[in-house]
Amino acid sequence: MPRSKIAGIGMYVPKNIFTNNDLTKYMETSDAWIQERTGIKERRYADRTEETTTTMGVEAATIAIERAGITAQDVDFIIFATLSPDYYFPGCGVLLQRAMKMKEIGALDIRNQCSGFVYAISVADQFIKTGMYKNILVVGSEKHSFGLDFSTRGRNVSVIFGDGAGAVILQPTENTNQGILSTHLHSDGEAAEILAMYNPGTHANHWANKNYATFPEAEIGEMFMSHEMIDNAENFPYMDGPSVFKKAIVKFPEVIMEALQTNGLQTSDINMLIPHQANLRISQFVQQKLGLSDNQVHNNIQKYGNTTAASVPIALCEAWEEGKIKEGDLVCLAAFGSGFTWASALLKW
Ligand code: ACO
Repeated sequence: MPRSKIAGIGMYVPKNIFTNNDLTKYMETSDAWIQERTGIKERRYADRTEETTTTMGVEAATIAIERAGITAQDVDFIIFATLSPDYYFPGCGVLLQRAMKMKEIGALDIRNQCSGFVYAISVADQFIKTGMYKNILVVGSEKHSFGLDFSTRGRNVSVIFGDGAGAVILQPTENTNQGILSTHLHSDGEAAEILAMYNPGTHANHWANKNYATFPEAEIGEMFMSHEMIDNAENFPYMDGPSVFKKAIVKFPEVIMEALQTNGLQTSDINMLIPHQANLRISQFVQQKLGLSDNQVHNNIQKYGNTTAASVPIALCEAWEEGKIKEGDLVCLAAFGSGFTWASALLKW
């Protein structure tokens, strides 16, 4: 059975840099607070009208395709991970297929938030191993800036997130010293509401105290999003930060160790760990717990903030472009996010 290898990788971040000080124009916060808690100095925000999650995905995909030495016409499957799609439906996969004038290939959207890209890699890996596809495009892209609460009310969430995209082309390889060794996926829905955007959604929370039999017909169309919900800022993401932190620092090391143990390897064998860029404090905690040195871990949240499904491919691409990852290196991708979901992938570059 062949393994899947990353044949090409690309990233795209918008030009518009937003520093912590820039945020102080909109909310009560400070550069010191943000840097101390998250490590973030600045992030990128997409152009409000010109750039979407799909267009950024296309930019990253174009580079990945070129570096793989193929054309968009050679891609035979698309997997697009995002939590901030252009439309509620359809997903971004088909919009990318259209924009890149690809053949009428399959397009799958993955909604696993911060773990989305690693989940997508795992799905792609299965299709490559079974021989079903030869050139799979995997994209992680987010335009968070469209839907964050930039008032003081939303500051615990809005300061963390940024926009950007990353993409890879996965291809089969018979080289036994290259490619994906294993992937590991997990979830625990017990705490689904701890880090979530509830609306628009079909959950009944908003109507729990209302009598369906009596509410006026005019309100029926407001099931997804009412004026009242918008007035109450119920259209923004909610996060219980301390609870996320506590769970993340347990699950990140666990899923990394699971990948190593599955392959009879140790932390000292890792050449480069690419953790999802949730928060620099989380990455540092994981690094310390696993006893990894600074040159075994790549972090770039300082420049881009948390770009959710895009953070792993952006960090991977940047580490590779900076010469930190070489042929034959053992690379570990690891992510934890809303759901909760967490995942890892161990690969030989
Ligand atoms: N600027 C200034 N003050 C703020 C800000 C801000 N941006 N945000 C919150 N505060 C205030 C709060 O209002 C609160 O004030 P109070 O004590 O007067 O009530 C105080 O700071 C502490 O608030 P907490 O929410 O308890 O802040 P905490 O110290 O826990 O830090 C943070 C928040 C950074 C989110 C932290 O909980 C954390 O790192 N959590 C991990 C979650 C995370 O990183 N998520 C990333 C996305 S999810 C993912 O990728 C997996």
